[in-house]
Amino acid sequence: MKEQLELIRQNALAALDAAGTPAALEELRVKLLGKKGELTAVLKMMGKLSPEERPVMGQMANAVRAEIEAKLEERKAAINAAVLEAKLAEEAIDVTIPGQTVELGHQHPMNMVLQEIKEIFVGLGYQVVDGPEVELASYNFTRLNIEEGHPSRDRSDTFYFDDNDEVLLRTQTSPMQIRFMENHKSPLCMLAPGRVFRKDEADATHSPMFHQIEGLVVDEHITMGNLKDALITIMRKIYGADAQMRFRPHHFPFTEPSCEMDMQCHKCHGTGEIDGQVCSTCHGEGWIELLGAGMVHPDVLANCGIDPEKYSGFAFGMGLERMAMGRLRITDLRLIFDNDVRFLNQF
Ligand code: DAH
Repeated sequence: MKEQLELIRQNALAALDAAGTPAALEELRVKLLGKKGELTAVLKMMGKLSPEERPVMGQMANAVRAEIEAKLEERKAAINAAVLEAKLAEEAIDVTIPGQTVELGHQHPMNMVLQEIKEIFVGLGYQVVDGPEVELASYNFTRLNIEEGHPSRDRSDTFYFDDNDEVLLRTQTSPMQIRFMENHKSPLCMLAPGRVFRKDEADATHSPMFHQIEGLVVDEHITMGNLKDALITIMRKIYGADAQMRFRPHHFPFTEPSCEMDMQCHKCHGTGEIDGQVCSTCHGEGWIELLGAGMVHPDVLANCGIDPEKYSGFAFGMGLERMAMGRLRITDLRLIFDNDVRFLNQF
């Protein structure tokens, strides 16, 4: 029995040393000290011992039990400490790791081109102004010589707010000519970029909302030559010295004479076709219309209290999206409005 106790002691201490988890320790405790445990089984045999042997064996059994219990406590503390250590290591925050950098975006490509155009005009002495998008018909049409019944006033083309067709979303930036002339004395040199609205279906070159840049110069002795010079200078700065442009005669109620300016299509280089197919960017024209322009109509000057006998002026209204398409070689207008980052990231 003495040998048996010694064997239990040795095996128990070795097993406890080897146990690595709280669960393994608990399993060992039951196996060694529990009611059906090894030590209990040995104690049950005490009855068979002689009265002299009994106290000696009893003392020895108690000593073994105490030793196992002490070892158990020691291992429990060690294992718990190890578990805590591991958890702390796993959850540790390393405050020395650099933070994640915030990625800065950039301006929308159309605004980049607008900025470029504004800077050129400011360099030529133009004053950049802003105006209302909700406009009166008198500014958007009447005082620009666009008479009642003109097709552009039609409800199928213009967004009106009222039944009398007096308040609308401006269809062009030209009302800014009137607003500026009302409040400033000649000489005038104005640039007014902004949003305009028309009931257009969206396609590769149309959108119900788009941007125009209105320009107006009024002084004594202003001629069509000044107009052509200003526009050619600007287009060469934007598109390069060898950019191909053309002026075509046109009609606008608020200018006389009037013209339109086109630039050669950047996709088909003026041929109107790509691989035998009609070029989708210029619809086979070979040219892309950029702006309308002309000499301010004397009646429009008079409408704003400027003496047409003394003063003359030129005006133009360019499509910003068209300008941006040419400048950045974009082939479909809708890309400008979709805001797909795969598109935007290219600029
Ligand atoms: N407002 C015209 C349009 O939207 C463009 C235009 C033509 C503006 C001639 C002008 C101009 O200032 O003189 O079609």
